[in-house]
Amino acid sequence: MVISQVQNLEARPKYKQRQPAVQQYLPEIITITSGKGGVGKTNLAVNLGILLSQRKQRVLLMDADLQLGKLDVILGASPRYTLADLVEGRKTIDEIIMHHPSGIDILPATSGDLDLLDADSRMLKVLANSFASIQSLYDYLIVDTGAGLSPTVLTMSLGADKVILLVTPEPASVSDVYAMIKVISQKSPELPLILVPNRHSSLEDGVELHKKLNLITQKFLKTTIYYGGSIVEDNAVRQAVIRQRPFVTEFPRSQAANNLQLVCHRLLKFPRQDINRRSNIFDRLKEKRKVMETA
Ligand SMILES: Nc1ncnc2c1ncn2[C@@H]1O[C@H](COP(=O)(O)OP(=O)(O)O)[C@@H](O)[C@H]1O
Ligand SMILES: [Mg+2]
Repeated sequence: MVISQVQNLEARPKYKQRQPAVQQYLPEIITITSGKGGVGKTNLAVNLGILLSQRKQRVLLMDADLQLGKLDVILGASPRYTLADLVEGRKTIDEIIMHHPSGIDILPATSGDLDLLDADSRMLKVLANSFASIQSLYDYLIVDTGAGLSPTVLTMSLGADKVILLVTPEPASVSDVYAMIKVISQKSPELPLILVPNRHSSLEDGVELHKKLNLITQKFLKTTIYYGGSIVEDNAVRQAVIRQRPFVTEFPRSQAANNLQLVCHRLLKFPRQDINRRSNIFDRLKEKRKVMETA
């Protein structure tokens, strides 16, 4: 489906109007990934989360790559506990979730924690049960992953409702994201893939990159990738990182912040994916791990 076809769909009701007792809403899971590291995933995850929360969406950000994720650096807050503390029974899920003043909540994990998850592990059951107790509190679960095609990144992507793929103008970033699209689309052809070109010198360059990449994926992979909007190279992003603050709150009038507002706007216009609504992220990871282990 092309974006223009879905733009007229009715917006989802705001959570204030919901009746949780009648119907339980589960958060939509958006995984942010890229072929290559250092392309801006963590910055996108944090700042997009904040913009969504400014639009009255309740956001839980899951850091799936704590050691390298730098999520705590960007937010200026260090997590005290991670999923490992939950699985080992030392802490409850409420105790490990951090409430950030920007309005988003953070669920810290390390890639080590997640690498330990295999399909039949006790860990996954503990996580699925704990998560079931809090998931209806959120509209979005944003998963910030590491780069590349590791099993953890792949399961996090395949378990999502939508995947945002970040790509920069560097040739290595473009070829790596193509490899990523190839694997994800082969394993999960229905999963919407949304491309967000980052660090381009103009929005037009981003549009152009999407066009080219989409032509190639349509031809060789029979897959359409959606355009999620571009973010230009902007010194405000680097300055905000140095100050350990999110750029959308530190420099709300910067070009990058304006660009991200559009990305957020587009994202809210995409239809929600209701196919897997009855299972939570950790149940889905279990399923996806099974598929991958038997593949
Ligand atoms: N649009 C941008 N303009 C300028 N610099 C950027 C932009 N996006 C990312 N960066 C720079 O790239 C660095 C890496 O970003 P990060 O979000 O940590 O990447 P990843 O999570 O993909 O490894 C940031 O610290 C910032 O300096
Ligand atoms: Mg990162």
